[in-house]
Amino acid sequence: MSAMSQRFNTDVLIIGGGAAGLSAALALAQHARVTVLCKGDITSGSSHWAQGGVAAVTDPEDSFESHIADTLDAGAGLCDPEVVRATVSGGPDAIAKLTERGVVFDTEGNALHLTREGGHSHRRVVHVADATGKAITQTLTDQVLDNGNIELFNDRVAIDLINLSTLGRHHSRCAGAYVLNRTTGRVEVFQSRFVILATGGASKVYLYTSNPDSSTGDGIAMAWRAGCRVANMEFNQFHPTCLYHPHAGSFLISEAVRGEGGILRLPNGQRFMQRFDERLELAPRDIVARAIDHEMKRIGADCVYLDVSHLSASFIHSHFPNIAQKCAELGIDVTKDPIPVVPAAHYTCGGVVVDDCGRTDLANLYAIGEVSCTGLHGANRLASNSLLECFVYGARAAEKIIGLLDKPQTAPYIPKWDESKVTDSDESVIIAHNWDELRRFMWDYVGIVRTDKRLMRAHRRIELLKQEIQDYYATYRVTNDLIELRNLLHVADLIVRSALKRKESRGLNYNMDYPELAPQAIDTILAPGSLDSMMLDPVLQQPNR
Ligand code: FAD
Ligand code: SIN
Repeated sequence: MSAMSQRFNTDVLIIGGGAAGLSAALALAQHARVTVLCKGDITSGSSHWAQGGVAAVTDPEDSFESHIADTLDAGAGLCDPEVVRATVSGGPDAIAKLTERGVVFDTEGNALHLTREGGHSHRRVVHVADATGKAITQTLTDQVLDNGNIELFNDRVAIDLINLSTLGRHHSRCAGAYVLNRTTGRVEVFQSRFVILATGGASKVYLYTSNPDSSTGDGIAMAWRAGCRVANMEFNQFHPTCLYHPHAGSFLISEAVRGEGGILRLPNGQRFMQRFDERLELAPRDIVARAIDHEMKRIGADCVYLDVSHLSASFIHSHFPNIAQKCAELGIDVTKDPIPVVPAAHYTCGGVVVDDCGRTDLANLYAIGEVSCTGLHGANRLASNSLLECFVYGARAAEKIIGLLDKPQTAPYIPKWDESKVTDSDESVIIAHNWDELRRFMWDYVGIVRTDKRLMRAHRRIELLKQEIQDYYATYRVTNDLIELRNLLHVADLIVRSALKRKESRGLNYNMDYPELAPQAIDTILAPGSLDSMMLDPVLQQPNR
């Protein structure tokens, strides 16, 4: 395979084509040349698979104060109240903008139909049946493809950001990324004035997840390697109800199913949530996921069941057509049979530290959507606040960048990717093996319930894997799997170190050694350089190898 690299030049490089990346691209395109990169196609991000909807205050009976209070309550003391207020206030505009772009949300009479999810004290989730993400991403992608100022590249995997200071000649500034073309196997240079990370979350670091394959924390790992702080990585959200079936893949059973009356039952048919929270099945996700985990371990069950058989068949089929169909394909008639469900890793509440318009610590680098940590979610995200955050921050980052486009900027020469010291790998089994091992021990030791002993076990294994992957990375040509494993390893390390720092149980971080809340709620912020050897390894740090 030829090692020749190719070069592309643009004003704004957006890494990620989910809800955050696409909405930012459309907002920017009137003013700038925009390039969007996706690992696969538009179905590769979580946005396409979003079911429940977008939380936004659109009902006159509802209020911003109530949405703010619910968000703060779920976030267990760690949300930034100003960020919450600003994001919640942006909800109605975000829905109006999506409607203007052509998304047809479900209605009831003249108003939007609103569904309910855990932790919300009102019906406020705007949706398109149980496939909201698909409707939104298809509409936005159609517009992106029609826009002459936006170029969309599929099958591209960003490997590392280009920080001019590490090239040795300039001030610290982001100027693009090295990107693997999955089709040709070549590494390309995408040079740009601004870079927006919109790469989604990192839930693939766990063995069981609701997320698509792209969620390998690439943006978090790349930003970290480029010198940015990350925060609150210990707060990985586990969705209580993923379909439990050997042929289900990672299929979610939306929280809206519980919102509309679904009941959780043990295998013997008994209801159990009354023993854990007075809000029953609609308690915030951390509580419901922990309750299920507790009951499964207590009775040795493989799963619990979600029962909607008391709802009418017509209601189920009109509100949850895709869920009903997926279950039917697996022989489960949801109108009669309880649905087998288990918790699975779902959402990365922490991420790259950003300000109120998505700016990171590195000049000209922005992060929006699940890759970022804005302060909205705190220790536990409120259901359907994620898509809302993607749209609000997508618009804000675009606005900020538009205001800076007039400022003159030099375009330095970026060296091509250096492959002079590497060869093709002859033992890919190492990647596959380490990938499985990492995800399994993260599930077993760094999952819903933690102890310091388990966290230390995970930490020691991560140190060993780091050494192996470091050697491998220095010796062989990059592949998609190597890039992802390297990133997963970095993210796992950040999660474990953050969890070890938190000597309390708060929100999604439940540690049996510290079951109480600490008196003060403090963010866990890690800064590159503050950790011992980990990320400072010369090979892992080198920008073009
Ligand atoms: P994503 O949509 O995940 O997109 C990431 C993009 O980055 C993809 O295009 C991917 O290909 C690309 N990418 C990643 N790494 C690289 C790389 N190295 N190089 C190039 N490209 C890269 N939230 C809600 O608010 N409401 C819901 O109803 C809801 N339902 C959900 C249901 C499911 C099954 C899941 C998994 C999540 C759900 N969430 C929901 C969460 C929400 O969907 C996500 O948090 C949100 O869509 C993230 O959007 P994003 O744009 O940040 O990232
Ligand atoms: C769901 O539909 O249950 C997912 C909602 C979310 O993750 O916000």
